[in-house]
Amino acid sequence: MSSQNEAAYLDAARSSPLAVKDAPEPAPPSSNQLIIKAKAIAVNPMDAMIQQTGMIVPPEAYPYILGCDVAGEVVAVGSSVAKVKPGDRVLACAERGCFQKFNTVDQSLVTKIPQNVKDTEACVLPLALCTAAVTLFQKDTLALDLPRLDARPNGKVVLAWGGASAVGTNGIQLLKAAGYDVAAVAGNRNHQYCKDLGADYVFDHKSADVEKEIIETLKEKSFAGVACFIMSMDIIAACARIADQLGDNPKNKFVGTVLAPGMNYQGPLPDGVSIGYTWGDSLKYNEVGPAIWDKWLTPALANGSMKCKPDPEVVGKGLESVQAGLDQVASGVSAKKIVIEIA
Ligand SMILES: NC(=O)c1ccc[n+]([C@@H]2O[C@H](COP(=O)([O-])OP(=O)(O)OC[C@H]3O[C@@H](n4cnc5c(N)ncnc54)[C@H](OP(=O)(O)O)[C@@H]3O)[C@@H](O)[C@H]2O)c1
Repeated sequence: MSSQNEAAYLDAARSSPLAVKDAPEPAPPSSNQLIIKAKAIAVNPMDAMIQQTGMIVPPEAYPYILGCDVAGEVVAVGSSVAKVKPGDRVLACAERGCFQKFNTVDQSLVTKIPQNVKDTEACVLPLALCTAAVTLFQKDTLALDLPRLDARPNGKVVLAWGGASAVGTNGIQLLKAAGYDVAAVAGNRNHQYCKDLGADYVFDHKSADVEKEIIETLKEKSFAGVACFIMSMDIIAACARIADQLGDNPKNKFVGTVLAPGMNYQGPLPDGVSIGYTWGDSLKYNEVGPAIWDKWLTPALANGSMKCKPDPEVVGKGLESVQAGLDQVASGVSAKKIVIEIA
């Protein structure tokens, strides 16, 4: 590689703005890795939370590079990488470190971007898609049926609380591709958005009677569980009460959450209801990762059944714009993803 690498560094816990400076050239990729020249990156709430609180990053890891979502061009591949080659356009999910010009990533959470999708669109997906997939399909969470390109309705309904969030947006689309009916909970202004993604029922999270309305509407349906895509103990408690009312066995008296393992839910839990935890990239260690990233995602994007949602809002060009993106995510977004063009 000839071009100089640069990164937007978090120099110390809670420091702001990020410092854009030269970064080391990436080492040659190991056998399972590839190097991507970033064209567009997206910001996640966790990036903003880490910058604001200093959580997760040990003191010795500074200066630190945030960022999990990248789309760009492959510039080098390791000896075992057969799914992509230099010159391919790809999207990828990294554990962290995407806020730089050259990203070294494991091949497991990488796939080609079809021609009909722009880099600024593709980069909205990676972490939100992975997180939703873990919550819905992993054996230690809801363990639902996996998505297929020829989706076959199975007549079962899943409640997706937080349908307009980035994770929920992916969750609705994954559930439809897996054959489920979806009942989405979102703000009123995003009800049409959720329906356009495929939601069969929508509920307003601000309604005082939302729990009652959900239970009344779904009580005669074949119920498959709750995915709570909002990190709130009160909402998880509400989801647990709903699962208690609508579920009739241990599999559907279950709330898959976006709480990371270790963030133990301490709230009330009706007898017989269980909670699942999610670590966004754990699917690369089990059958869910290949089912989504190797078999389903690229053709689903190419045929339009999977959409790059929430829509990107491009806040700037160049790594200098990443801080503006972090600030915007920290102040809250609704049904949109904050994106920075890199090249
Ligand atoms: N465990 C992990 O590995 C992992 C990985 C990634 C993300 N996460 C977590 O997952 C959560 C979602 O992330 P994200 O990127 O999807 O967030 P996001 O897109 O920034 O979430 C914003 C959305 O949340 C919705 N929302 C807020 N309060 C709500 C409520 N009471 N009921 C229903 N919807 C509500 C808003 O919907 P309206 O505008 O319609 O009100 C808004 O569209 C975050 O807490 C994040 O930290 C965890």
